[in-house]
Amino acid sequence: MKAFDYLQQVIADRTTDETRRVALKSFATALDWTPHSELRERYQTATAISHLVVEHGIENAAALTFLAPGERASELSASQIEKLLEISYNNLIDWHIFISNNDVRIVNNLSFPDVDNLYSIREENISDVLSVTGFNEISRNEKIKKYDRRCDEVVINVIARWKKIISSEIPNIDNKSLSSIFNAMIFVRACEDQKRQDFLDEERVLLAELSNSDESKISEILRAVLRKFEIMPDDLNFIDWEDVNKFDILDKYTVENLFIDFYRPRSVSYNFNFALMSKHALSRIYEKYISLLYYTENEKDSQISFLPTLPSVAQPEKSGSVFTPQYIASFFSRYLRDNTPPRRFRQLKVIDPACGSGIFLRTVLEHQASPLDFRVDRTSIDAAFANIYGIDRDPNACSATRLSLALLHLVITDEIPSRPLQISNTDALDAFLNREVGVNSFDAVIANPPYIKLDHLNEADRDKISNVLGDLKEQRVDSYLAFVAMAMHIARPGGFVCLVLPQAFLSSRNASKVRSWISKEFTVRLCADLSSLDVFSGVGAYTLLLILEKVGPRQSQVRATIAKIADYVGPALQACLDGRAVDTPYYSVFDVEQDYFDKVNWVLLSPEENRLDRLLNSHKTLSVYMSVKQGFVTGADKVFIRSKKDIPLKERAVWLDYLKDREISRYELPKNVNSVVFFPFQNGKPLEEKELKELYPKSYEYLLSHKGILEKRGAVSRHANPWWRPVRPRGPDVMCRPKIVCPHLMLVPRFGIDRRGSFAVSHTPMVLGRDADDDNHVLLNYFAAVLNSSVARWYLNTHAPRYSKGYVRIEVASLKAMPVPNPKNVPISTLKTISDKIDDQNCNEKERQIELDEIISDLFGLDIELKRYLNVGD
Ligand SMILES: C[S@@+](CC[C@H](N)C(=O)[O-])C[C@H]1O[C@@H](n2cnc3c(N)ncnc32)[C@H](O)[C@@H]1O
Repeated sequence: MKAFDYLQQVIADRTTDETRRVALKSFATALDWTPHSELRERYQTATAISHLVVEHGIENAAALTFLAPGERASELSASQIEKLLEISYNNLIDWHIFISNNDVRIVNNLSFPDVDNLYSIREENISDVLSVTGFNEISRNEKIKKYDRRCDEVVINVIARWKKIISSEIPNIDNKSLSSIFNAMIFVRACEDQKRQDFLDEERVLLAELSNSDESKISEILRAVLRKFEIMPDDLNFIDWEDVNKFDILDKYTVENLFIDFYRPRSVSYNFNFALMSKHALSRIYEKYISLLYYTENEKDSQISFLPTLPSVAQPEKSGSVFTPQYIASFFSRYLRDNTPPRRFRQLKVIDPACGSGIFLRTVLEHQASPLDFRVDRTSIDAAFANIYGIDRDPNACSATRLSLALLHLVITDEIPSRPLQISNTDALDAFLNREVGVNSFDAVIANPPYIKLDHLNEADRDKISNVLGDLKEQRVDSYLAFVAMAMHIARPGGFVCLVLPQAFLSSRNASKVRSWISKEFTVRLCADLSSLDVFSGVGAYTLLLILEKVGPRQSQVRATIAKIADYVGPALQACLDGRAVDTPYYSVFDVEQDYFDKVNWVLLSPEENRLDRLLNSHKTLSVYMSVKQGFVTGADKVFIRSKKDIPLKERAVWLDYLKDREISRYELPKNVNSVVFFPFQNGKPLEEKELKELYPKSYEYLLSHKGILEKRGAVSRHANPWWRPVRPRGPDVMCRPKIVCPHLMLVPRFGIDRRGSFAVSHTPMVLGRDADDDNHVLLNYFAAVLNSSVARWYLNTHAPRYSKGYVRIEVASLKAMPVPNPKNVPISTLKTISDKIDDQNCNEKERQIELDEIISDLFGLDIELKRYLNVGD
């Protein structure tokens, strides 16, 4: 049968529920969509017969509404459409497709009525309009002006607004109590929306209760409404009623407005439906919600997520928010589903030892209890919930997880869970050390572990981390490594470990013993490097997804999937799930043998890149021919770096021109700069304080006026540095020599030549001759050409540490280790051509780069394929 036939079956009056469900799935699949979930059929029964959420890849989604027999998409009124759009809106899906058996309307709910396209459909053209490809064409062509904001943003704004209002009405109210009132509001509203789908006619139960009763205490109204739904408020262990009672002093008018905002804030086009949200979208809202409410002042500085702060959360005051995008949670859950026999998957024993608001646990449960899977029944749902474990040391995170899971249970079974959920508010590392969480116990461990810098950890936490790591400890360790080790311990043999980690895990020294343990006793199933992704703008974009199976690599012989993703994360992760090798300019997915991970550092290279890497490694490193040093470090740039115009002419000798990173470009440097850095040397020798005071009194006076700040530097308080000196100024023998300089962070190579040695650079590496004889013009030009080449760009991109937004951080060690062609083997004529090209002021910059790139890649010995791979000549 074809899509068109399935459609007739879905829409026909006489079709049974069971047949319709199968036809819905087949309809979606025939058009290349992945059916995700069917929604309650009772939503808008007069016009619609069924609703289905479909996806393609990890990110694309649309809500489909199948109209009742006799209805036409073209005839739906604006108000009927608006009502139905609540479905997609509350599921955080922008696109909604209305389908009758002879026409289709494709609407974007954030831009309705502007984006509202009508098509008639027949057997021959149905896939032009409704297949993934057809839909992508239509949706991509739309220039979308958004009238509404997404539902999650609106809910978060409502909560942020009310947090402010309530805090001004009830001074000193704490975050925990605020979270309790919002949890209670969300829960009651979700129950109401759930019941409304079944039988409730009343529009706004909370408001009706408030206006009909003499009572205006918010806790009483909430309890009364729950009782109306036959839910006993005191049975709910995820709502702290003592906290909720604290809000009883709010007056009736305030309570009424709060309730209104939880139905539909004035500026928004759609009603909230918390039952719909609960099923698919609330986990996303919780991630932001938790960051809005739960972070205390201390934690927000010290705790960094590997994942970004969402711009929309920026307004709730720099909360250092922790947010795992839904697609990562979905990816892990699907990976587990696709790699576990179905029966076993439905009862998987899963733990997240740093569960936050429970996004991972919830997503696994959503997949385990999928209503589209006919084998799912009440027993399997109960078994799934009984096998889910979460730990978080933040009590508020635990209550959000409990609420989130309880709501999910409610919307799938119509009941709240009869047994308490196993979410425990404790320190996971303690629980592991005390054996409350046993080794070899879980089918799957999933986590985005907390990344707290060692310096921010207290003694007790440091000890705990050391104890959990035991022999795996190496150098200074960050908190996340203890979670990696714990996860590996508590997974059962044959079980999975799914982690979100910093990209540094692949190569950092402090993780080397953990990597070595993995290579011996685990099978790496997947390693996806997302560190170049733009979506991770903001803090801490160092993301790596790692999936391990606790089976020795030699026994399993399963190849590992490696993904390097710079864009199109959805299709890329989908390719990982499908086990498809792909190579595009935006991402590549490929397989490697397990011995790939026997290496000390895990550099993720495709077969083509491996060939390139081997070829490059046949050359000696830059450190053999040149010296690589780090720029100056002052410890107080605000004091030591000044505007040039503020320095008296007579004292210019102790101030050196300072070249900012952004002033450095390929080959060229500016003639003049505006800043200078304090440079305490005279005739090549360091100055003493007494000399400075006598010879450069104004500079001394200036430094003296900042003595307080300068003394606070670590090296000064340890008596390792005098108060008036930069910590590592670098002498004239380094700083004042001709050298190659570069910015510390780079997207593409920008190595400039400081021919006269007149600039100082900060932190970033500098390349200079091993001795003064090597300061010659041609040699510096040659190495600048090598460093600015596509080969160097590739090498640094793959081997140097990553910073956010695809930036690479250039460190002395990575430059020293970079392979370079031996200049002694380069014909003099070629050296001259390179040098002349660089010196030629009239040369077109692009042409110069293409020509030099070609020469350098030949010197490296690249063949045509490798040149094409690196886009040499483009
Ligand atoms: C990076 S967040 C991850 C939250 C959520 N799983 C996610 O992926 O978005 C880390 C969580 O770990 C919790 N946490 C930090 N240290 C912990 C510890 N020692 N034991 C248990 N939880 C901890 C924090 O409270 C926070 O909720």
